[in-house]
Amino acid sequence: MSGGRRRPLVAGNWKMNLLQAEAAVWCRALRSDLPTSKAAVGVAVFPSFPLLPVVARELTGSSIAVGGQDLHPAEKGAHTGDVSGAQLADAGCTWVLCGHSERRRDHGESDELVGRKAAAALRHGLTPLICLGETRDERQAGRTFEVLERQLRAALAPLDSRPVGFALAYEPVWAIGTGETATPEIAQEAHAFLRRLLAGLEGVGPAAEGLSLLYGGSVTPDSAPGLIAQADIDGFLVGGASLDPRNFLAIIRGSG
Ligand code: PGA
Repeated sequence: MSGGRRRPLVAGNWKMNLLQAEAAVWCRALRSDLPTSKAAVGVAVFPSFPLLPVVARELTGSSIAVGGQDLHPAEKGAHTGDVSGAQLADAGCTWVLCGHSERRRDHGESDELVGRKAAAALRHGLTPLICLGETRDERQAGRTFEVLERQLRAALAPLDSRPVGFALAYEPVWAIGTGETATPEIAQEAHAFLRRLLAGLEGVGPAAEGLSLLYGGSVTPDSAPGLIAQADIDGFLVGGASLDPRNFLAIIRGSG
């Protein structure tokens, strides 16, 4: 358990996977098997945009939250292919990923843009799950903490009004989709660094103790218990293993 201070959260990031019928089956399987004593672990799922209506419908009345995988910082307008915070909220989302490393890599998202997206999320009542993490080269060059600090400061810079309504996902890029999970020690070291940094930020301060810091990167039912036992790891952002509801459920069970 994560130090007993924060309720664990397990979030599934489906990325660009599943079709509507598969999404509906997934939701039904998860709902029917999720422990009814729902209090122990929070659960959220991040489907692709076209799946949001079916997922929101299937999960109505459940304790499982729904989130978008990205949003545009603007309210609306001429941004072909993008999605606004208002549209996500309207589709039943309460969360949104900001700055996932695949967005940074595939779409050249800058640290500064990630901050504007997080601010837009808050304006629409969505909780931004801000993703950050170093590449393998950055880790090998001893630059991990420098990169995390840069990404965190930039992501939070525009959040002046409600600075504590967010969560972080530490996702070392070298661990995402590679099968190479960070060891509990490596992940805890990064999480402790991020929490100390948050505690020192104006507007966050002591509230840092209550913020959820998730780990992401090749989390499996086997690796989850060792990670969640760390003091500053409050849950998971799960990619590949979230696509099979049995694996996802096993991770949820292993996190409570
Ligand atoms: P993975 O993805 O679990 O497949 O490594 C995690 C993520 O990118 O959120």
